Amino acid sequence: MAKNQLPDDFKPPPDHFYKGIRMPAQMPAASLDAAREMEIRDDDIWVVTYPKAGTTWGQEITSVIMEGGDIEKVKKTPLLERVPYVELGPIDQIPATHKFVDAMPRDVPRLIRTHVPYDLMPKQWHEKKPKTLYVARNPKDTAISGWQFTKINYYLETVENFSDFFPKFIEGDVIYGSWFDHNLGFWQHRHEPHILFVKFEDMKKDLKGQMIRIADFYGRPLPEDKIEECVEHCTFDKMKKNPMSNYSAAPFLDHKKGTFHRKGEVGDWMNYFTVHQNEMFNSLFEEKMRGSGLTFDFEL
Ligand code: A3P
Repeated sequence: MAKNQLPDDFKPPPDHFYKGIRMPAQMPAASLDAAREMEIRDDDIWVVTYPKAGTTWGQEITSVIMEGGDIEKVKKTPLLERVPYVELGPIDQIPATHKFVDAMPRDVPRLIRTHVPYDLMPKQWHEKKPKTLYVARNPKDTAISGWQFTKINYYLETVENFSDFFPKFIEGDVIYGSWFDHNLGFWQHRHEPHILFVKFEDMKKDLKGQMIRIADFYGRPLPEDKIEECVEHCTFDKMKKNPMSNYSAAPFLDHKKGTFHRKGEVGDWMNYFTVHQNEMFNSLFEEKMRGSGLTFDFEL
């Protein structure tokens, strides 16, 4: 049973703009500033995504790999304690996470999650270049997932109809700004040795193959005899049922309205996009991605 449910008439505090980018009140400017100025450790591991691109999935995979495939250990601690969301809080019951991150033990690598775009990554991150996993998801499914999330996240203004979310998404007038800018920002640096660019759709197609790839990138290959169990642990069905990774007790979600793990599919956008929205989106995608070489599977 979820704890800390907020009252039914709870109104989300207004968003704010941080360096021109729309941000929810859960990520106050002071915390975003603190994250930019934070000390980076050479052995940090960063998990970076545009919201709803598979952050939680990337965090769980990273955590499993860095614990050497010790699932029992991973299952003992909530995901946000294993891989904290550095710019989150303070707000209501949620403390300032950057303080927790600064105080993490130095004898093991810290695992840290953020959604900030490339240019707003911590200053020392740009200098020290710690290993960074970037998970990217096709923008149509990302948009649908983001829209649906406004209905269960107390701190986001609920958008009932996709027709109201769509124009905001394509204009980048959504939290953390433009999907295009965010993805291209990291894609342009994908050949640098400290960055691994992984696609949600590739994880759906071959979770084991992508987990092996990520583990190799971290320099922590999964033990042969544990691979199958680790892959199973990171499937949608297992993560949805795992109280340590499904946010079933998260104070920022209205658990009466839905679950964090919604569908986890590729192509759900087809249930919502109108023909006109799709045509409009395709031409925008072509224009923005032209020459970048960045492509996605929009269905499997
Ligand atoms: P849907 O809303 O399409 O279901 P984030 O963690 O970045 O907020 O992304 C959340 C999205 O990733 C949700 O998408 C969620 O269901 C999906 N997801 C989380 N874990 C997953 C997994 N193991 N496999 C597939 N999708 C997953």
